Amino acid sequence: MGTLNFEVLTLFPGILAGPLNESILKRGQEKGLLSVRTWNIRDYAEDKHRKADDSPYGGEAGMVLKPEPVFKAVEAVKASSPGDEFLTILLSPQGRLFDQRYAERLSRERRRVILLCGHYEAIDERVKDALVDEELSIGDYVLTGGELAALVVIDAATRLVPGVLGDEESAYRDSFGDGLFDHAHYTRPADYRGMKVPEVLLSGNHDAIMKWRRRESLRATLLKRPDLLGSADLTKEDTRVLEELKKEYNLS
Ligand code: ADE
Repeated sequence: MGTLNFEVLTLFPGILAGPLNESILKRGQEKGLLSVRTWNIRDYAEDKHRKADDSPYGGEAGMVLKPEPVFKAVEAVKASSPGDEFLTILLSPQGRLFDQRYAERLSRERRRVILLCGHYEAIDERVKDALVDEELSIGDYVLTGGELAALVVIDAATRLVPGVLGDEESAYRDSFGDGLFDHAHYTRPADYRGMKVPEVLLSGNHDAIMKWRRRESLRATLLKRPDLLGSADLTKEDTRVLEELKKEYNLS
């Protein structure tokens, strides 16, 4: 079993420290299934003030991340693991949208993954041209920097690496695997303040429970994100159930 290797280049390594030292990301590292090294881009700035940003050519407001510290940092990362291959991803709101499918692909990545976190308004275009294989966005909104996005990407990919989640947690892994939302869940007590757990879950009838769960997955997806149904893995029976549900809610 291989390790998922991330090299995070950032001006603010402290943003990553907390989340990487808790819960499943921490455990993944302890089990040797995940490795995350952070590199401070500022350490590679050339001038004595370790200045990593500068004003843009052409005269406009804002600052631009300079090329030299980023090139040098990437070169240092590569020099630290000679012979290894690298995939370089720039976190940016202009990137392709990160989704579960991307997370699955990344969880199987054998190359070292460099996550380059921009800050300030922009990054020198020559970095994108010469160093970056892919720009990746976690959603259509603008963050103050790529660090939180890098954490999202690391988290979503890591939980898919076999062995990272315990058996109990793994049961939840496929929630999105077939493109549908997870079904509703209940635990004891069976009656809480008059709110009852669906009868079928107490029946011990495994087939009926499986059918109920599928129906509830379809229901949740239809009501919350019907757009996902277009690319979901649906059987004939699913399609029939969906028609029933649509009638129930007067949806066309
Ligand atoms: N940096 C700033 N905004 C971002 C976003 N939405 N996704 C990834 N990186 C970003």
